[in-house]
Amino acid sequence: MEDLERIRAEAMAAVAAAASLDQLEAARVAALGKKGSVSGLMAGLGAMSPDERKAAGARLNLLKDEVAAALAGRKSELEAGALDERLARERVDVTLTARPEAMGRVHPITQTIEEITTIFAAMGFEVAEGPDIEDDFHNFTALNIPAEHPARQMHDTFYFGEKADGSRNLLRTHTSPVQVRTMVGQRPPIRIIAPGRTYRCDSDMTHTPMFHQIEGLVIDEATHMGHLKGCLIEFVRTFFEVDDVPVRFRPSFFPFTEPSAEVDIGCSREGGELKIGPGAGWLEILGCGMVHPNVLAACGIDPERYQGFAFGMGVERVAMLKYGIPDLRTFFDSDLRWLKHYGFLPLDVPTLSGGLTR
Ligand code: PHE
Repeated sequence: MEDLERIRAEAMAAVAAAASLDQLEAARVAALGKKGSVSGLMAGLGAMSPDERKAAGARLNLLKDEVAAALAGRKSELEAGALDERLARERVDVTLTARPEAMGRVHPITQTIEEITTIFAAMGFEVAEGPDIEDDFHNFTALNIPAEHPARQMHDTFYFGEKADGSRNLLRTHTSPVQVRTMVGQRPPIRIIAPGRTYRCDSDMTHTPMFHQIEGLVIDEATHMGHLKGCLIEFVRTFFEVDDVPVRFRPSFFPFTEPSAEVDIGCSREGGELKIGPGAGWLEILGCGMVHPNVLAACGIDPERYQGFAFGMGVERVAMLKYGIPDLRTFFDSDLRWLKHYGFLPLDVPTLSGGLTR
């Protein structure tokens, strides 16, 4: 048993020196494994007399327990160390601000719809929606555009195939059908805007087959043309962020409004640069008018009691004017370089208090 002290010293030294769980396992095998040093001593017990065996066995058991305890102690040290190291390595500072170099950009169409919605929401408008696939009633008939009306040809409508009853669905040519759906579905007072996609079979420099509009509708018992003007002038000045931009209401025609007007804003073109504000030029930005009594009646609203106004505006058009985007078709190219240039940071949400654009 003269080996016992040496074997103990070696085993304990190997356990203490183990710098990883793998090395510790190697030290365990070297001492307590089947062919390990401690197990080798155990095998020698068989050759001893019973008395010797009793004394040596007790000492060997002590040694085994001692080595096992050292192994367990070293194991928990190594595990705690590994955890500390991982905690330090994977540390996250949750108090840091969001990274300003976020890659994604908000498309100018989305941004413009957000800005317009923010302005009208502050005036008490709710957002309404309707389907892109419409029927004749909502897109035309209820809007005082009967079957043979020339306005139908002007709309360059995309039609779907004929149904069993001979009627055809269509892609809405404007957001005005949302007026109809809203009036059919809820009682006045009504104050909504409806942003969305619209479609016309037209494609050139200044037209794309799909584009966006925002519709507005106010219906109650007392709203008049003065409210329409005040509301839209306020909108234009807030949206373009130019306090003194001239606004002009020019008489026009829409089947669903009477009287009707188109709204122009002032601009200057000095030095070849288009600038929104006081100047010699005018730019048309939207159509509007007092809702035609025939439209109210078609939607089940008593025109003797209720009245109001509606307007419709092209989102691409006002976005191009506000942000100096020269070519309509680039909106739909999905060119990441373009989006990086004209897009908006996702966290710069437009607000009236903080500014629509930063
Ligand atoms: N729907 C018309 C268009 O697409 C715009 C409009 C809406 C005009 C509401 C008046 C009132 O041109």
